[in-house]
Amino acid sequence: MTTTTRPASLGILERFRTLYELPVDYPIVSLNEGNTPLIPAPKLAEWAAPGLDLNLFVKFEGANPTGSFKDRGMTFAVSQAVKDGKTHIVCASTGNTSASAAAYGARAGLQTIIVLPKGKVALGKLSQAIMYGAHIIEIEGNFDEALDIVREFAALPQVAIVNSINPYRIRGQQSGAFEICQQLGSYLGVPQPPDYHFIPVGNAGNITAYWAGYQRFMEAGHISTLPKMCGYEAEGAAAIVQGKKFDHPETLATAIRIGNPASWEAAEAARDESGGWIDSVNDDEIVAGWKAAAELEGVFAEPACGASVGGLKKAAAQGKVEANSTVVCILTGQGLKDPDNAVAYGKAKKATLPADFKTICTHLNL
Ligand code: F0G
Repeated sequence: MTTTTRPASLGILERFRTLYELPVDYPIVSLNEGNTPLIPAPKLAEWAAPGLDLNLFVKFEGANPTGSFKDRGMTFAVSQAVKDGKTHIVCASTGNTSASAAAYGARAGLQTIIVLPKGKVALGKLSQAIMYGAHIIEIEGNFDEALDIVREFAALPQVAIVNSINPYRIRGQQSGAFEICQQLGSYLGVPQPPDYHFIPVGNAGNITAYWAGYQRFMEAGHISTLPKMCGYEAEGAAAIVQGKKFDHPETLATAIRIGNPASWEAAEAARDESGGWIDSVNDDEIVAGWKAAAELEGVFAEPACGASVGGLKKAAAQGKVEANSTVVCILTGQGLKDPDNAVAYGKAKKATLPADFKTICTHLNL
């Protein structure tokens, strides 16, 4: 392990420099991304899979510098853009990719152009792109239409596309799998993958990247088994599950409001090669999983993360998860990204009362 990894405080390209086979003079643009916590979640396990005694962990990707897993891929895509002499980067986004691109673009001194579906990007994500100084183009259309426009920028030699159709994005995001194996090693004795890897699916880049990452870690001799990849789309945007594009995808989890995933086939390959599955969860199941992580374990993620937790609950109820298994649910983004939904769905215990101690105690049954 010591020959392939570096101290945890560096970004993913430095830490996994050997696995990524980077030349010494590679220009790394980093915000010290990665090294996110893998948190044991015993109460969430009992909530999602009562009686199965799962060894459940959540990988909290909200702890990345811009609050989502996108930073793992963006450090690589933007470094490569610098290496290639690009002056601009461009992406379509449901919000997180644009926040990440804008941050790494600012750090690298590149112009960042982001194309967003108007009115469908969570407030926190939009505020990030604004602060990092990106050119923000909102279109009357959805993510899939924004990505179609972004693909046309390939004609301009000074511009790098930094969506996950850029292979460096997927390579960078493999680092999540490397870390999980190492972190499970510190809990369980030896580096190993989980038995089941639950993950939200939108454009399907991340499930593709994690599967490639586990395989890469096995090729490098660090692990000897692979996990089942269990992906969850939102029911209103379940193109892979239903085998057809959604022209009007809809879900409250705007991060995964995508009707024509760019990595569709690669995600199916991850599913089939790993012996896993891709299914969907409805918005009620997403909200339930999202709130359970916050209320039972103190981990505040963004709504889309409810797809992996809600997905685990659904799969367990269907008898698809073996008892005593080790399971990782990826929580892909930080809860503060979407304050509007948090306030709307989490307010059950909120009251407005007079400024009077006794009244407050009565309200609290104390
Ligand atoms: N979770 C979050 C928080 C996301 O932002 C995304 C995708 C996903 C899950 C799904 O990952 O697309 O690799 O299957 N967000 C992209 C964006 C589309 O533009 O920020 P995926």
